[in-house]
Amino acid sequence: QQQEKESLYIVLNYAKNYYQNLLWNQDEGQAVGLSYFKERGFKENTIKEFELGYSLDNWDHFSKEAIAKGYNPDILDKAGLLIRKEGKQFDRFRGRVVFPIHNVSGKVVAFGARILKPDKNQPKYLNSPETDVYHKSHILYGLFQAKNAIRQEDTCYLVEGYTDVISLHQAGVNNVVASSGTSLTIEQIRLIGRYTQNITVLYDGDAAGIKASLRGTDMILEEGLNVKVAVFPDNDDPDSYVRKIGAQAFKDFIKKNSTDFITFKTKLYLDEAANDPFKKAGIIKEVVESITKIPDPIKRAVFFKQTAGLLQMDEGTLIVESNQILKKQV
Ligand code: GTP
Ligand code: MN
Ligand code: MN
Ligand code: MN
Ligand code: MN
Repeated sequence: QQQEKESLYIVLNYAKNYYQNLLWNQDEGQAVGLSYFKERGFKENTIKEFELGYSLDNWDHFSKEAIAKGYNPDILDKAGLLIRKEGKQFDRFRGRVVFPIHNVSGKVVAFGARILKPDKNQPKYLNSPETDVYHKSHILYGLFQAKNAIRQEDTCYLVEGYTDVISLHQAGVNNVVASSGTSLTIEQIRLIGRYTQNITVLYDGDAAGIKASLRGTDMILEEGLNVKVAVFPDNDDPDSYVRKIGAQAFKDFIKKNSTDFITFKTKLYLDEAANDPFKKAGIIKEVVESITKIPDPIKRAVFFKQTAGLLQMDEGTLIVESNQILKKQV
């Protein structure tokens, strides 16, 4: 088992080197891949630090070369690098820029691969499947590169995408990771919890995304970590925004616009309810549920006081409701 895992790490590392070599040293790789990254504003150092690469627009260039070098096709398949269908096999990643995904110790365990031009017949990002070394729910993109900074800053920024992590890192914001496509999991939160108790979620500036991630953010509270939220202007994500306004203004923006999650959620819902008292009652329950998830009673008390003010409600009423919820749980 351990030996099989080792052989997966070896082929994944080979694949990483192969994609990197194409990006830097081969005509198509340079013309298509490297220039794509440069147009996005990624500097050479950054591209190297994240070990970005390129996969040729060709059915089986990778597998042929790997097999010719003596790598076992079954291992290539188990590492998620091939697609096998109807007795044929071809490369999973073709004609895409490639983002290696590392585990905490820096070993490549998977890849994300982005299409170069929008195409409605193909997903924008393709990712490796689950394998013996890649359990999506346990991996955070960028954690290997971010972990020291997370500890030092005692905060972790959580973003949606690979490119957000990379752009922020380039701008000198190093304490940043992405859950990359999947919704946030308990295991990912605990992973962050090894380095800091403070998470600031940097949402893309689209309402759908915000709503979808509220659940994940509740989970952070449940794990006892402190959560803040910063939302970007419409249609911007951390990557596009930092490129637009620059590193220093970006840091100032986060400082100024981070709200604790409970206040954020309360205000978001209050805006929605407008003057409908039934909706408002529903919101109060929803917010009390979130506060009730906080394990520390002192923190809970602080939030009851603060939220009562926002909701123009008596604090005692909120606490009674919270106690009801707690009673139901035992
Ligand atoms: P860019 O367009 O390259 O700036 O990517 P982005 O990170 O801004 O993408 P977006 O905000 O649309 O999505 C956030 C993350 O979700 C991405 O980084 C991917 O990890 C994931 N994702 C987006 N689109 C797809 C897709 O089509 N398939 C899969 N599997 N994941 C996706
Ligand atoms: Mn760095
Ligand atoms: Mn998005
Ligand atoms: Mn983006
Ligand atoms: Mn985005």
